Amino acid sequence: MTVRGAQGKKRAEELRAQIDDANHRYYILDDPAITDAEFDAMLRELIDLETAHPELRTPDSPTQRVGATPSERFAPFEHSQPMLSLANAFDEDELRAFDERVRKLAAVPVSYVCELKIDGLAIALDYRDGVLVRGGTRGDGRVGEEITPNLRTIPTIPLRLPVTLSLSKGRNLLEVRGEVYLRKSDFEKLNARREREGLPVFANPRNAASGGVRQLDPKLTAQRRLSFFAYAVAQGPPLKTQSEALEYLRAAGFAVNDHIEMPDDIAGVIAYCRRWEAARDTLDYEIDGVVVKVDDLALQEKLGAVSREPRWAVAYKFKPREARTKLRDITITVGRTGTLNPNAVLDPVQIGGVTVKSATLHNAEYIASNDIRIGDTVLVTRAGDVIPRVVGPVLSERTGKERRFKMPGACPVCGSAVDHPPAEAMARCTNASCPAQVFERVRHFASRGAMDIEGLGDVLADQLTGSGIVHDIADIYALDAEQLASVPRMGEKTISKLLEAIDGSKSRGLARVLTGLGIRFVGEQTAAILAGDFGTIDAIAKASEDELQRSEGIGTEVGSSVRLFFDQAANRSMIERLRRAGVVMAGARRERGGGPLGGKTFVLTGTLPTLSRDEAGALIEARGGKVSGSVSRKTDYVVAGDEAGSKLAKARDLGIPVLDEEGFRRLLEE
Ligand code: IVH
Repeated sequence: MTVRGAQGKKRAEELRAQIDDANHRYYILDDPAITDAEFDAMLRELIDLETAHPELRTPDSPTQRVGATPSERFAPFEHSQPMLSLANAFDEDELRAFDERVRKLAAVPVSYVCELKIDGLAIALDYRDGVLVRGGTRGDGRVGEEITPNLRTIPTIPLRLPVTLSLSKGRNLLEVRGEVYLRKSDFEKLNARREREGLPVFANPRNAASGGVRQLDPKLTAQRRLSFFAYAVAQGPPLKTQSEALEYLRAAGFAVNDHIEMPDDIAGVIAYCRRWEAARDTLDYEIDGVVVKVDDLALQEKLGAVSREPRWAVAYKFKPREARTKLRDITITVGRTGTLNPNAVLDPVQIGGVTVKSATLHNAEYIASNDIRIGDTVLVTRAGDVIPRVVGPVLSERTGKERRFKMPGACPVCGSAVDHPPAEAMARCTNASCPAQVFERVRHFASRGAMDIEGLGDVLADQLTGSGIVHDIADIYALDAEQLASVPRMGEKTISKLLEAIDGSKSRGLARVLTGLGIRFVGEQTAAILAGDFGTIDAIAKASEDELQRSEGIGTEVGSSVRLFFDQAANRSMIERLRRAGVVMAGARRERGGGPLGGKTFVLTGTLPTLSRDEAGALIEARGGKVSGSVSRKTDYVVAGDEAGSKLAKARDLGIPVLDEEGFRRLLEE
C-alpha cells in the first residue's frame, strides 16, 4: 500500500519532527534517545517518501542537510567543502548493489579501500605552513563549531607537521579530516571516576568524546583523554588515491588506523566486513561498521554525490548493540560497603546475541537526571565488555502511567536508616551489621580472588549470616562442627571438608587477606601493591595517608579509605581475632622490578567468570608481566573467558597456551 495525499503529508511531518528531535538530542544535548538503527530507518522512510512524492519535500526537511544546527556556544566553523555523510549498507546484498552501481558508473576496473568505521565524531583540521591553525566539528556539514583550543589538547593530533612534508601548492594549506574518539579503557576509567565523584556517567564512549571536545574549558577536554584517527585529506598536495592519502597522513605524524585493507573485489570487502563484525570486541575502541571507499580519487570526483551522500563510498553498518525494552521494576541490592544499588528489571531483550534481563542504573542521581521511570520503554546498550546499561527513556513512548523511582529511606534488608550525603553518588545503609552487608563481606572474603574458601559459597554464606552464627569475617575462623551441624543440609563430610578449607585459607598471605577485608577501593591490584610495599598488616595499619600514597597508583582516595578502615576500633579488633585464629598477615616484601611473571606477555579476551579485564591485567602487572591488546608470536599466554573471539582463534593457530580463569589463577600462585 502506498501512502498518499494528506496521509503522506502527515507522515512526512511526523518523521521530520522526530528526526529533528533525534538530531538535536544527538548533536546538541549529547543525549540520544533512539538507536542509530532507528534513526537510519526513519531517515530512510522519509527519503523514500519524498522521492516517491517530491511535492512533499520542504526546504527545511532533514533530508536536505547532513546533521543538526551547531550550538551557539562556539564560533561557527565554515567547511571549505561540505562534510558529507555516508549512505548505509545493512547487509551483503546492499554492499553488492553498491559495487554494481559504482562499476556501472565508473566503466573502468574499480579498487576499494576498507576502513573501520570509528564510533566517535568527525572533525576537520586546518594546517597552514605546517602549523595547526583551526579545527572544528562537522555540525550540519556546512558549518560546524570552532573548537581549536580543545582539539589541541588531543595528543594524537599533531600541532606541527614535519618540515619536509609537501603541502598544498601556493597556499601551503592542508585540511585533514578524521574521527575523535575515546578508548574503551579510558571510557571505563572516566565513568568510574565520575561515579565516585557523584557526577553523571556517560552512556557510551561516543557521547563522552562528543561532550569532551565541546567543553568551554580546554582543561576539561584534556582530562577526557581523547584520541584521534585521521582518514581523509580534504585539501592538500596532489594525491592520486585514498590509500596514498592515508600513507601521506601517517608520514605527517597522524594516527591512522592499522586495520585498513584493500581487498581484491567485493567478495573480499564482504569478508572484511564479516571479520570485523565478529572481532569488534577485540579492539579498545568502538567501531560501528566498515567504510568502503573507491580508492581512485579522480574516480571519486567523477562519481560525485547525491544530496547528502557521496556515490563513491558506503558505510556497512554492524547489527546494533542497543535495543529498546520495557523497564518493569527497579530493585535494590545492598553492597558490601552498604551501598544501595539500583538495578533495572527488564523485559528480556536480545542485544548483540545476548539476552539481557537486567542492567545497571548506577545510582539515584543517574535515574533522576535521565528521568528514567518504572514502566518506561528504555534504551539499553551493551557496548564491548561493558555491562548492560540503561541509557534513558524513549519519551515518545510515555503513556503517563509510568512511576518515578524513589530511593527508600530505610535499608530494604535490615530497615536501618539510609545515609545519602549530598556530595556522594551512592546512598548507604548505616548499619555495619546489616545482614546484607555482612553476607556480602563474608561472600567476598571467601571468594576466589580473596581467601578462596571452598564450600563457603553464596548459599552457605547466606545461611550463616542470616541465622546470626556469623556476624563478621573473623567469626568464620571460630566455626566448629557443632555449630555447622545446625545448618540445614550440612552433613558430617561436608562439615569436615569445610573446616579443612577454612584452616587452609589461613596461609593465603597478606595480599589475599587485604583483598578479603573489602576495604573501599582496595581490590586485588591495590592489595598486592600494599602487601608488597609494607610487608605486614600492622605496617599498613600504622601508615599515615602520606606514607600510603607513596605506593604506586595509590592516591588520596585509596589512602584515606585505608586509613578510615584501620581507624575504626571494630575493624582493629576484628583483625586481632583473625591473628589469634592463626591467619597469616605478613609476607615477603616485593623487590621492585622483576616479579614472577617478569618478561611474560599476556592477552586477555572474552569475559572471565569472576575477574574483570582490569583486575586480571592488574594481577599480571603486579607480578611484573605485561598485557597486550593483540595476539602475536611474542604472546606467552592468552587468558580466555566466555565469548572469546578472534584472539582465541589466533592463539590456537599460533600454538600459544590458552588459560581459563582457573588456570590463570594457578599460574599466579606459582
Ligand atoms: S569517511 C564522505 N572514514 O562515519 C565520507 N568516515 O557518516 C566521509 N567515520 O560522520 C566519511 N570512521 O564521522 C569516513 N574511516 C572512516 C570513518 C568515518 C568513522 C564516521 C564519520 C562520518 C560518519 C559517516
